[in-house]
Amino acid sequence: MTYTPAAARYDNAPKNWFRRCGRSGLMLPAISLGCWHNFGGPLEGHSEADWHENCRRMLFAAFDAGITHFDLANNYGPPPGSAEERVGRILKEDFAAYRDELIISTKAGYRMWDGPYGEWGSRKYLLASLDASLKRLKLDYVDIFYSHRPDPPASGGAPGGTPLEETLGALDQAVRSGKAIYAGISSYRGAATADALATCERHGLAKPIIHQPNYNLLDRWIEPDLLPVTERFGLGVIAFCPLAQGLLTDKYLAGIPEGSRAATKTGFLRPNQITPDKLNKVRALNDVAQARGQSLAQMALAWTLRLPAVTSALIGASRPQQILENAAAVPKADFSAEELKKIDAILKS
Ligand SMILES: NC(=O)c1ccc[n+]([C@@H]2O[C@H](COP(=O)([O-])OP(=O)(O)OC[C@H]3O[C@@H](n4cnc5c(N)ncnc54)[C@H](OP(=O)(O)O)[C@@H]3O)[C@@H](O)[C@H]2O)c1
Repeated sequence: MTYTPAAARYDNAPKNWFRRCGRSGLMLPAISLGCWHNFGGPLEGHSEADWHENCRRMLFAAFDAGITHFDLANNYGPPPGSAEERVGRILKEDFAAYRDELIISTKAGYRMWDGPYGEWGSRKYLLASLDASLKRLKLDYVDIFYSHRPDPPASGGAPGGTPLEETLGALDQAVRSGKAIYAGISSYRGAATADALATCERHGLAKPIIHQPNYNLLDRWIEPDLLPVTERFGLGVIAFCPLAQGLLTDKYLAGIPEGSRAATKTGFLRPNQITPDKLNKVRALNDVAQARGQSLAQMALAWTLRLPAVTSALIGASRPQQILENAAAVPKADFSAEELKKIDAILKS
Protein backbone atom coordinates (compact mmCIF):
# COMPACT_ATOMS: atom_id res chain seq x y z
CA MET A 1 0.00 0.00 0.00
CA THR A 2 1.29 3.44 -0.87
CA TYR A 3 0.65 6.02 1.77
CA THR A 4 -1.06 9.30 0.95
CA PRO A 5 -1.04 11.70 3.88
CA ALA A 6 -4.04 13.76 4.89
CA ALA A 7 -3.97 16.89 2.77
CA ALA A 8 -4.84 19.08 5.77
CA ARG A 9 -2.01 17.88 8.01
CA TYR A 10 -0.59 21.38 8.47
CA ASP A 11 -3.85 23.33 8.25
CA ASN A 12 -5.20 21.47 11.27
CA ALA A 13 -2.07 21.93 13.38
CA PRO A 14 -2.69 24.05 16.47
CA LYS A 15 -1.26 27.53 16.82
CA ASN A 16 2.46 27.48 17.67
CA TRP A 17 2.73 23.80 16.71
CA PHE A 18 6.09 24.45 15.02
CA ARG A 19 8.63 25.97 17.39
CA ARG A 20 12.02 27.40 16.54
CA CYS A 21 14.91 25.20 17.61
CA GLY A 22 17.00 27.64 19.66
CA ARG A 23 18.48 30.35 17.48
CA SER A 24 18.74 28.07 14.41
CA GLY A 25 16.59 28.17 11.28
CA LEU A 26 15.04 24.80 12.08
CA MET A 27 11.40 24.61 13.17
CA LEU A 28 10.39 21.44 15.03
CA PRO A 29 6.90 20.19 15.86
CA ALA A 30 5.87 20.59 19.52
CA ILE A 31 5.57 16.79 19.67
CA SER A 32 8.17 14.56 18.00
CA LEU A 33 8.13 10.76 17.76
CA GLY A 34 11.01 8.59 18.95
CA CYS A 35 11.61 5.01 17.80
CA TRP A 36 13.58 3.67 20.78
CA HIS A 37 10.96 1.06 21.73
CA ASN A 38 8.42 -0.75 19.53
CA PHE A 39 10.13 -0.20 16.15
CA GLY A 40 12.72 -3.01 16.29
CA GLY A 41 12.02 -6.71 16.00
CA PRO A 42 8.54 -7.94 16.99
CA LEU A 43 8.03 -8.58 20.70
CA GLU A 44 6.94 -12.04 21.86
CA GLY A 45 3.42 -12.92 20.74
CA HIS A 46 3.47 -10.65 17.65
CA SER A 47 4.00 -11.69 14.03
CA GLU A 48 6.48 -9.71 11.93
CA ALA A 49 3.67 -8.68 9.55
CA ASP A 50 1.41 -7.33 12.32
CA TRP A 51 4.30 -5.60 14.06
CA HIS A 52 5.44 -3.90 10.87
CA GLU A 53 1.91 -2.77 10.08
CA ASN A 54 1.55 -1.23 13.55
CA CYS A 55 4.83 0.66 13.03
CA ARG A 56 3.68 1.98 9.67
CA ARG A 57 0.40 3.10 11.18
CA MET A 58 2.19 4.87 14.00
CA LEU A 59 4.35 6.82 11.55
CA PHE A 60 1.33 7.60 9.35
CA ALA A 61 -0.74 8.78 12.34
CA ALA A 62 2.16 10.93 13.50
CA PHE A 63 2.79 12.56 10.12
CA ASP A 64 -0.92 13.26 9.61
CA ALA A 65 -1.00 14.92 13.02
CA GLY A 66 1.82 17.28 12.03
CA ILE A 67 4.60 15.27 13.73
CA THR A 68 7.27 15.81 11.12
CA HIS A 69 10.20 14.66 13.25
CA PHE A 70 11.16 11.00 13.81
CA ASP A 71 14.08 10.36 16.14
CA LEU A 72 16.34 7.30 16.01
CA ALA A 73 19.74 6.08 17.16
CA ASN A 74 22.11 3.43 15.81
CA ASN A 75 21.38 1.08 18.73
CA TYR A 76 17.56 1.26 18.84
CA GLY A 77 15.90 -2.13 18.56
CA PRO A 78 16.19 -4.77 19.84
CA PRO A 79 18.33 -5.99 18.21
CA PRO A 80 20.51 -2.86 17.79
CA GLY A 81 20.06 -1.35 14.35
CA SER A 82 16.67 -2.94 13.71
CA ALA A 83 14.66 0.23 14.40
CA GLU A 84 16.67 2.12 11.76
CA GLU A 85 16.18 -0.80 9.34
CA ARG A 86 12.43 -0.86 9.88
CA VAL A 87 11.96 2.90 9.75
CA GLY A 88 14.25 2.99 6.68
CA ARG A 89 12.03 0.47 4.94
CA ILE A 90 8.89 2.45 5.77
CA LEU A 91 10.49 5.72 4.67
CA LYS A 92 11.46 4.18 1.35
CA GLU A 93 8.21 2.33 0.69
CA ASP A 94 5.71 4.85 2.07
CA PHE A 95 7.31 8.26 2.58
CA ALA A 96 9.62 8.64 -0.42
CA ALA A 97 7.59 11.60 -1.71
CA TYR A 98 7.76 13.36 1.68
CA ARG A 99 11.47 13.29 2.53
CA ASP A 100 11.72 17.08 2.39
CA GLU A 101 8.85 17.40 4.87
CA LEU A 102 10.59 15.21 7.44
CA ILE A 103 13.29 15.69 10.05
CA ILE A 104 15.05 12.37 10.67
CA SER A 105 17.66 12.19 13.39
CA THR A 106 20.08 9.53 14.51
CA LYS A 107 22.85 9.21 17.09
CA ALA A 108 25.97 7.31 18.04
CA GLY A 109 27.51 6.97 21.48
CA TYR A 110 26.23 3.77 23.08
CA ARG A 111 27.74 0.31 22.39
CA MET A 112 27.02 -0.75 18.83
CA TRP A 113 29.72 -3.26 17.96
CA ASP A 114 32.54 -5.14 19.66
CA GLY A 115 35.98 -3.75 20.30
CA PRO A 116 37.23 -0.31 21.27
CA TYR A 117 35.70 1.49 18.23
CA GLY A 118 32.06 0.50 18.86
CA GLU A 119 30.94 3.11 21.44
CA TRP A 120 31.60 6.52 23.04
CA GLY A 121 32.78 9.57 21.13
CA SER A 122 35.81 8.87 18.94
CA ARG A 123 35.89 10.16 15.40
CA LYS A 124 36.52 6.57 14.26
CA TYR A 125 33.27 5.36 15.85
CA LEU A 126 30.98 8.33 15.11
CA LEU A 127 31.73 8.57 11.39
CA ALA A 128 31.63 4.80 10.77
CA SER A 129 28.36 4.61 12.69
CA LEU A 130 26.78 7.45 10.70
CA ASP A 131 27.60 5.64 7.44
CA ALA A 132 26.05 2.43 8.80
CA SER A 133 22.94 4.35 9.98
CA LEU A 134 22.47 5.90 6.54
CA LYS A 135 22.60 2.43 4.96
CA ARG A 136 20.03 1.04 7.38
CA LEU A 137 17.80 4.10 6.96
CA LYS A 138 18.25 3.98 3.17
CA LEU A 139 18.86 7.72 3.19
CA ASP A 140 21.53 9.98 1.66
CA TYR A 141 21.51 12.22 4.72
CA VAL A 142 19.96 12.62 8.16
CA ASP A 143 18.71 15.97 9.37
CA ILE A 144 20.32 15.77 12.81
CA PHE A 145 23.30 13.65 13.88
CA TYR A 146 23.91 13.50 17.64
CA SER A 147 26.72 12.60 19.93
CA HIS A 148 24.46 10.34 22.04
CA ARG A 149 26.36 10.79 25.31
CA PRO A 150 29.55 12.43 26.50
CA ASP A 151 32.65 10.33 27.10
CA PRO A 152 33.55 9.53 30.68
CA PRO A 153 36.87 10.94 31.87
CA ALA A 154 39.89 8.86 30.82
CA SER A 155 40.82 6.21 33.36
CA GLY A 156 43.73 3.81 32.87
CA GLY A 157 43.44 1.84 29.64
CA ALA A 158 39.62 1.95 29.53
CA PRO A 159 37.81 3.64 26.65
CA GLY A 160 36.66 7.20 27.23
CA GLY A 161 38.48 10.46 27.54
CA THR A 162 37.96 11.42 23.89
CA PRO A 163 38.87 15.11 23.60
CA LEU A 164 35.77 17.22 23.03
CA GLU A 165 37.30 18.72 19.89
CA GLU A 166 37.56 15.21 18.38
CA THR A 167 33.88 14.34 19.04
CA LEU A 168 32.71 17.76 17.86
CA GLY A 169 35.10 17.61 14.90
CA ALA A 170 33.40 14.37 13.82
CA LEU A 171 29.97 16.06 14.04
CA ASP A 172 31.39 19.00 12.07
CA GLN A 173 32.66 16.64 9.37
CA ALA A 174 29.26 14.92 9.23
CA VAL A 175 27.66 18.32 8.58
CA ARG A 176 30.28 19.55 6.11
CA SER A 177 30.12 16.29 4.13
CA GLY A 178 26.34 16.70 3.77
CA LYS A 179 25.62 13.41 5.55
CA ALA A 180 23.90 15.42 8.30
CA ILE A 181 22.22 18.79 8.02
CA TYR A 182 22.61 19.73 11.70
CA ALA A 183 24.60 18.46 14.68
CA GLY A 184 23.24 17.75 18.16
CA ILE A 185 24.37 16.55 21.56
CA SER A 186 22.47 14.42 24.04
CA SER A 187 22.69 13.97 27.81
CA TYR A 188 25.66 16.35 28.22
CA ARG A 189 25.42 18.13 31.57
CA GLY A 190 25.30 21.94 31.60
CA ALA A 191 29.03 22.47 32.14
CA ALA A 192 29.97 19.92 29.44
CA THR A 193 27.52 21.61 27.06
CA ALA A 194 29.14 25.00 27.68
CA ASP A 195 32.57 23.41 27.09
CA ALA A 196 31.34 21.82 23.88
CA LEU A 197 29.96 25.06 22.47
CA ALA A 198 33.06 27.02 23.48
CA THR A 199 35.22 24.32 21.82
CA CYS A 200 33.28 24.72 18.56
CA GLU A 201 33.74 28.48 18.70
CA ARG A 202 37.49 28.12 19.37
CA HIS A 203 38.06 25.61 16.55
CA GLY A 204 35.59 27.05 14.02
CA LEU A 205 33.49 23.85 14.08
CA ALA A 206 29.82 23.61 13.09
CA LYS A 207 27.95 24.12 16.36
CA PRO A 208 25.29 21.72 17.61
CA ILE A 209 21.91 23.43 17.32
CA ILE A 210 20.01 21.08 19.62
CA HIS A 211 20.38 19.30 22.94
CA GLN A 212 18.44 16.12 23.77
CA PRO A 213 18.13 15.64 27.54
CA ASN A 214 15.83 13.60 29.77
CA TYR A 215 13.08 15.90 31.10
CA ASN A 216 9.72 15.25 32.68
CA LEU A 217 7.65 15.95 35.80
CA LEU A 218 9.67 13.39 37.78
CA ASP A 219 13.11 14.52 36.60
CA ARG A 220 13.76 18.27 36.44
CA TRP A 221 17.58 18.25 36.39
CA ILE A 222 17.78 20.45 33.29
CA GLU A 223 16.02 23.43 34.88
CA PRO A 224 18.91 24.62 37.06
CA ASP A 225 21.77 22.79 35.28
CA LEU A 226 21.27 22.86 31.53
CA LEU A 227 18.68 25.44 30.46
CA PRO A 228 20.75 28.51 31.40
CA VAL A 229 23.50 27.13 29.12
CA THR A 230 21.25 26.22 26.17
CA GLU A 231 19.70 29.68 26.37
CA ARG A 232 23.10 31.36 26.49
CA PHE A 233 24.34 29.49 23.41
CA GLY A 234 21.02 29.46 21.53
CA LEU A 235 20.51 25.69 21.48
CA GLY A 236 17.08 24.19 21.11
CA VAL A 237 16.02 21.49 23.58
CA ILE A 238 14.09 18.33 22.72
CA ALA A 239 12.97 16.58 25.90
CA PHE A 240 13.22 12.78 25.84
CA CYS A 241 11.04 10.46 27.96
CA PRO A 242 8.55 13.28 28.68
CA LEU A 243 6.15 10.61 30.01
CA ALA A 244 8.89 8.90 32.08
CA GLN A 245 8.51 5.86 29.78
CA GLY A 246 4.76 5.68 30.43
CA LEU A 247 4.84 6.20 34.20
CA LEU A 248 3.33 9.67 33.70
CA THR A 249 0.08 8.22 32.36
CA ASP A 250 -2.71 6.53 34.27
CA LYS A 251 -1.69 3.07 33.02
CA TYR A 252 0.27 1.89 36.09
CA LEU A 253 -2.17 3.19 38.73
CA ALA A 254 -3.86 -0.21 39.06
CA GLY A 255 -0.82 -2.46 38.57
CA ILE A 256 1.33 -3.35 35.55
CA PRO A 257 -0.91 -4.04 32.54
CA GLU A 258 -0.07 -6.81 30.09
CA GLY A 259 1.76 -5.56 27.01
CA SER A 260 2.96 -2.36 28.72
CA ARG A 261 6.64 -1.44 28.63
CA ALA A 262 7.18 -2.47 32.25
CA ALA A 263 5.66 -5.88 31.47
CA THR A 264 7.89 -6.67 28.49
CA LYS A 265 11.26 -8.37 28.97
CA THR A 266 13.19 -5.95 26.78
CA GLY A 267 11.53 -2.75 28.02
CA PHE A 268 13.82 -0.25 29.75
CA LEU A 269 11.16 0.58 32.35
CA ARG A 270 11.55 -2.09 35.02
CA PRO A 271 8.80 -2.91 37.56
CA ASN A 272 11.08 -1.94 40.48
CA GLN A 273 11.20 1.64 39.12
CA ILE A 274 7.44 1.94 39.68
CA THR A 275 7.68 2.69 43.40
CA PRO A 276 4.77 3.48 45.78
CA ASP A 277 6.19 7.00 46.24
CA LYS A 278 6.13 7.66 42.48
CA LEU A 279 2.65 6.17 42.17
CA ASN A 280 1.35 8.47 44.92
CA LYS A 281 2.66 11.46 42.99
CA VAL A 282 1.26 10.13 39.71
CA ARG A 283 -2.16 9.63 41.34
CA ALA A 284 -2.20 13.22 42.63
CA LEU A 285 -0.99 14.55 39.25
CA ASN A 286 -3.73 12.55 37.56
CA ASP A 287 -6.30 14.45 39.66
CA VAL A 288 -4.84 17.80 38.54
CA ALA A 289 -4.95 16.65 34.90
CA GLN A 290 -8.58 15.60 35.18
CA ALA A 291 -9.50 18.96 36.68
CA ARG A 292 -7.86 20.56 33.61
CA GLY A 293 -9.89 18.33 31.30
CA GLN A 294 -6.78 16.47 30.09
CA SER A 295 -5.39 12.97 30.42
CA LEU A 296 -2.28 12.77 32.61
CA ALA A 297 -0.20 12.00 29.48
CA GLN A 298 -1.48 15.22 27.89
CA MET A 299 -0.81 17.31 30.98
CA ALA A 300 2.70 15.86 31.37
CA LEU A 301 3.53 16.84 27.77
CA ALA A 302 1.94 20.27 28.10
CA TRP A 303 3.99 20.81 31.28
CA THR A 304 7.33 20.15 29.48
CA LEU A 305 6.28 22.53 26.71
CA ARG A 306 5.32 25.34 29.12
CA LEU A 307 8.94 26.51 28.97
CA PRO A 308 9.79 28.40 25.78
CA ALA A 309 13.30 26.91 26.07
CA VAL A 310 11.87 23.44 25.35
CA THR A 311 11.37 23.17 21.60
CA SER A 312 9.75 19.75 21.40
CA ALA A 313 8.59 16.86 23.60
CA LEU A 314 9.99 13.59 22.21
CA ILE A 315 7.42 10.90 22.91
CA GLY A 316 7.44 7.16 22.37
CA ALA A 317 4.37 5.10 21.59
CA SER A 318 3.21 1.53 21.18
CA ARG A 319 0.09 2.29 19.12
CA PRO A 320 -1.31 5.06 16.90
CA GLN A 321 -4.04 6.08 19.36
CA GLN A 322 -1.43 7.16 21.94
CA ILE A 323 0.16 9.46 19.36
CA LEU A 324 -3.15 11.12 18.57
CA GLU A 325 -3.97 11.57 22.26
CA ASN A 326 -0.53 13.05 22.90
CA ALA A 327 -0.62 15.45 19.94
CA ALA A 328 -3.94 16.76 21.26
CA ALA A 329 -2.11 18.03 24.38
CA VAL A 330 -0.67 21.02 22.55
CA PRO A 331 -3.73 23.29 22.21
CA LYS A 332 -3.98 23.27 26.02
CA ALA A 333 -0.35 23.82 26.98
CA ASP A 334 -0.88 26.86 29.22
CA PHE A 335 -1.04 26.56 33.02
CA SER A 336 -2.44 28.93 35.62
CA ALA A 337 -0.10 29.97 38.44
CA GLU A 338 -2.32 28.02 40.81
CA GLU A 339 -2.04 24.81 38.77
CA LEU A 340 1.75 25.13 38.63
CA LYS A 341 1.85 25.67 42.40
CA LYS A 342 -0.28 22.58 42.96
CA ILE A 343 1.97 20.50 40.69
CA ASP A 344 5.13 21.75 42.41
CA ALA A 345 3.66 20.85 45.81
CA ILE A 346 2.88 17.31 44.60
CA LEU A 347 6.37 16.86 43.19
CA LYS A 348 7.97 18.07 46.43
CA SER A 349 5.73 15.89 48.66
N1 LIG B 1 19.02 10.58 23.93
C1 LIG B 1 18.81 9.58 24.73
O1 LIG B 1 19.72 9.11 25.44
C2 LIG B 1 17.44 9.00 24.81
C3 LIG B 1 17.10 8.11 25.86
C4 LIG B 1 15.79 7.63 25.88
C5 LIG B 1 14.87 8.01 24.90
N2 LIG B 1 15.26 8.85 23.90
C6 LIG B 1 14.33 9.26 22.84
O2 LIG B 1 13.09 9.65 23.42
C7 LIG B 1 12.03 8.90 22.81
C8 LIG B 1 10.90 8.74 23.75
O3 LIG B 1 11.29 7.96 24.88
P1 LIG B 1 10.18 7.10 25.60
O4 LIG B 1 9.59 6.15 24.62
O5 LIG B 1 10.72 6.59 26.88
O6 LIG B 1 9.10 8.27 25.86
P2 LIG B 1 7.84 8.47 26.77
O7 LIG B 1 6.93 9.30 25.94
O8 LIG B 1 8.27 8.96 28.10
O9 LIG B 1 7.21 7.01 26.97
C9 LIG B 1 6.62 6.35 25.90
C10 LIG B 1 5.73 5.21 26.40
O10 LIG B 1 4.66 5.74 27.18
C11 LIG B 1 3.48 5.07 26.89
N3 LIG B 1 2.52 6.03 26.34
C12 LIG B 1 2.73 7.00 25.42
N4 LIG B 1 1.62 7.73 25.23
C13 LIG B 1 0.67 7.20 26.04
C14 LIG B 1 -0.68 7.51 26.28
N5 LIG B 1 -1.28 8.53 25.68
N6 LIG B 1 -1.35 6.74 27.18
C15 LIG B 1 -0.76 5.71 27.82
N7 LIG B 1 0.52 5.35 27.63
C16 LIG B 1 1.24 6.10 26.74
C17 LIG B 1 3.82 3.95 25.92
O11 LIG B 1 4.15 2.82 26.70
P3 LIG B 1 3.58 1.34 26.44
O12 LIG B 1 4.60 0.73 25.56
O13 LIG B 1 3.55 0.78 27.82
O14 LIG B 1 2.23 1.48 25.79
C18 LIG B 1 5.07 4.48 25.26
O15 LIG B 1 5.88 3.47 24.73
C19 LIG B 1 12.71 7.62 22.37
O16 LIG B 1 11.98 6.93 21.37
C20 LIG B 1 14.02 8.15 21.85
O17 LIG B 1 13.83 8.68 20.56
C21 LIG B 1 16.51 9.35 23.86
